[in-house]
Amino acid sequence: MRIERLENRIINGDSSEVLRKFPSNSIDLVVTSPPYDSLRDYTGEGIWNFGCFKKIARQLYRVLAPGGVMVWVVGDQIVGGGKTLTSFKQAVFFQSIGFTVFDVIIYEKTGSGPPHPNRYFNSFEYMFILSKGTPKTVNLLKDKPNKWANHTTYGNVTRREKDGSLTDKGQKTVNEFGVRTNIWRYANGKGFSTKDEIAYQHPAIFPEKLAEDNIRSWSNEGDIVLDPFGGSGTVVKAAMALNRRWSMIEISEEYCRIAAQRTGLECNTERL
Ligand SMILES: C[S@@+](CC[C@H](N)C(=O)[O-])C[C@H]1O[C@@H](n2cnc3c(N)ncnc32)[C@H](O)[C@@H]1O
Repeated sequence: MRIERLENRIINGDSSEVLRKFPSNSIDLVVTSPPYDSLRDYTGEGIWNFGCFKKIARQLYRVLAPGGVMVWVVGDQIVGGGKTLTSFKQAVFFQSIGFTVFDVIIYEKTGSGPPHPNRYFNSFEYMFILSKGTPKTVNLLKDKPNKWANHTTYGNVTRREKDGSLTDKGQKTVNEFGVRTNIWRYANGKGFSTKDEIAYQHPAIFPEKLAEDNIRSWSNEGDIVLDPFGGSGTVVKAAMALNRRWSMIEISEEYCRIAAQRTGLECNTERL
């Protein structure tokens, strides 16, 4: 199927089937968060296990354009007293089918859940930044305030040349902001992840700002962004605001309708 027929559409279906309709090399960026083990009960009919994950992972590699990036936001469940490490197993599988693990960014969450009697409170998830070859777009976000902003450097800045000599570059003024680190912190939870009340009818949304920052970092205006586990439509909303084309797949008709209502769009339930 031509990508034009699949873009700017909320598609109600199972990604392991729907993705097969997407042409190879057609997507510039995937930003997504799959179910975390069996941490949440979703209303969709689908089965979520490692076999299903593998099928979807292979399809995602195929549909991604050379140099395209996938942001895989994931955390682990605690089963039998220990962390499943499904997140790592998925990352290793992605690597084994050809993805480059370009970065592992920590998504630090400010929201807190109920305290655990004998465990530190878990305040982060992983964002695996996976690329098909070298990423074609990297727009580093420069929003880390510099302690010495607007001061001139103490001495002159020098550059070491290939032959070992030093070139004097003079004094520099320190910029107000520097490139952020790979720990990204977001306010999450009710009222913080988004102001859209309706989105909280979905049990596991990520913050709008997280989607926006990733879309800005790994794509340009006019690029096409896919979310194959679209939930309440957070990625769709961010992609529209940032003038990207987009596509969303979600297995639950109920969540599709939430996403559609949130973004003022239609949920497409017709079989592709
Ligand atoms: C962690 S939630 C995504 C939430 C989303 N990031 C948001 O902010 O609203 C995962 C979603 O994947 C959906 N899902 C599970 N298996 C699926 C499949 N095989 N195909 C499409 N969607 C699936 C679930 O119904 C759920 O809404």
